[in-house]
Amino acid sequence: MNKPCYILAIESSCDETSAAVSNKGKILANVIAGQKVHEAYGGVVPELASRAHQQNIIPVVDQALKEANVAKNDLQAVAFTNGPGLMGSLLVGTSFAKSFALALGIPIIEVNHMQAHILALFASREDEGVEYPEFPFLCLTVSGGHTQIVKVHDHLEMEVLGQTLDDAAGEAFDKIAKILGLPYPGGPLIDKMAVKGDPARFKFPVTRLSGLNFSFSGLKTAVLYFIQKQLSIDPEFIDKNLADLCASVQHTIVESLVIKLIEAAESEGIEHIGIAGGVSANSGLRSRLQAEAKGRGWKLFIPPFEFCTDNAAMIAVTGYYKYLNKQFSTQDSAPFARFSGMK
Ligand code: KG4
Ligand code: ZN
Repeated sequence: MNKPCYILAIESSCDETSAAVSNKGKILANVIAGQKVHEAYGGVVPELASRAHQQNIIPVVDQALKEANVAKNDLQAVAFTNGPGLMGSLLVGTSFAKSFALALGIPIIEVNHMQAHILALFASREDEGVEYPEFPFLCLTVSGGHTQIVKVHDHLEMEVLGQTLDDAAGEAFDKIAKILGLPYPGGPLIDKMAVKGDPARFKFPVTRLSGLNFSFSGLKTAVLYFIQKQLSIDPEFIDKNLADLCASVQHTIVESLVIKLIEAAESEGIEHIGIAGGVSANSGLRSRLQAEAKGRGWKLFIPPFEFCTDNAAMIAVTGYYKYLNKQFSTQDSAPFARFSGMK
């Protein structure tokens, strides 16, 4: 009964190479290697990302096993992200996972990256004293590639209620940061600068689509035209107003997200609300939602920082639920680039 169930998990969908080890869903190690190589280019360069994954994957897996104090022969399965993401990057993780599992004679488990971001809400290094959302709950998943409101019926049964029709929230942060002359990834930098700025100083448009979908490309264009105009009047406009610009942009993105989340919670009559994905690390979004939760009687769930941005711990948790359901895959498993549902 008390037999351990060690799972090795691999995440390589974008520009983080990560490996985690879990025992019955509890996280024992979560090693993440970022890729500085993209900074100079203002965004992730896919070919450079695949090469960096190739360099990182073995040391990252080795470190995760050592930190967890688990021998590879004691693993029960290997879980890995099979999409959505960058094809070359995914190929590194999926090929490694398949060959490693084949050599050990253990099963492999495919994990959908977007489902895993949500199950980061169930990732913990502790055995006890952790509270999890009750089903069904709503999750606002906000990452660099996706923005979704998801109704979570069960660990593995999820329904997308709304999503972005163009840029993702993280993409909006990063592209606007680039317009402001900040390096990639700009989201965390805007967050840091915003703390010192006035969010009401500049008014940018909140795009309101019908239903629960989002759009962020209009905001990016509005900021671009505004900045170009101001720079033609005063070339030092950005330097003089950076904190207020960051605070105003962050405020606008947070408003766009929160308005739709409130609409979804009201129409579904759901009070357990989670947030997930890289942008859930944003301090403005966190504090705005905390205030909203207080006023509305929501129970709000936010993953610890290490499980917000891309990480393999969330893949390990999802892998464990699939392991319990015996949802194993075969060696002909192939990665996919685009999101086409929570499977
Ligand atoms: O989930 P994630 O690590 O990767 C994807 O699956 O895309 O999300 C990365 C995104 C980037 O766009 C990054 O700028 C954004 O999350 N991000 C933030 C913050 N931390 C990460 N955006 C705003 N505020 C932050 N503190
Ligand atoms: Zn992600």
